[in-house]
Amino acid sequence: MNELLLIILAYLIGSIPTSVWVSKRFFGIDIRDYGSGNAGATNTYRVLGSKWGTFVMIIDMLKGVIATSLYVVLPLRLQHNDLYLTNLMIGLGLGAVLGHIFPLWAGFRGGKGVATLFGMIVAIQPEVAIYCIGVFLVVLYLTRFVSLSSMLAGVAFAICILFIFNDDVTLYRIFSVAVALLVILTHQKNINRILNGTESKVPIFKYRDR
Ligand code: G3P
Repeated sequence: MNELLLIILAYLIGSIPTSVWVSKRFFGIDIRDYGSGNAGATNTYRVLGSKWGTFVMIIDMLKGVIATSLYVVLPLRLQHNDLYLTNLMIGLGLGAVLGHIFPLWAGFRGGKGVATLFGMIVAIQPEVAIYCIGVFLVVLYLTRFVSLSSMLAGVAFAICILFIFNDDVTLYRIFSVAVALLVILTHQKNINRILNGTESKVPIFKYRDR
């Protein structure tokens, strides 16, 4: 029962619509009406600038870290074994990611879950997060598509768990594949835009254009 309440709390934390609140509070607009229409850090960066984009990215990541770590408040948590705690962390993290994608506080129209997922991976297995951020940065450098970088980082997460770290927790293996599929699923519009050549690139690594 305590666990269920914690997962609901994780969902409510994930539901905090950082980009929507920032855009409304400080700019008088709804970020979902501009740019890609996504309520996330990339679109905030695109529409409101790097300072606010970075702010939203940090808060959205922290939502994942904090929600996934909520198990620490469980009484007698030390009596549970590692497998139980890992499964609980997955449940908590997924609660936060679903909150980010379908936020209670913003009409259930949220973002794509990438930053919050990343925060969740940092909390569960930081060494895997380093691989994911590595793939993300390399793809971003080569293509400047944040969306493609996010999708391939999601796929890298599954590859890490299934083949590199060879984790033997069944739920974690299933979860890693689910994460890759979820990230691809939430990027359907981006995939269409990449295919028809209309996906916008982030204006970073400008020296490459000189
Ligand atoms: O995390 C979302 C990012 O991968 C794509 O965002 O605004 O380009 O759809 P956006």
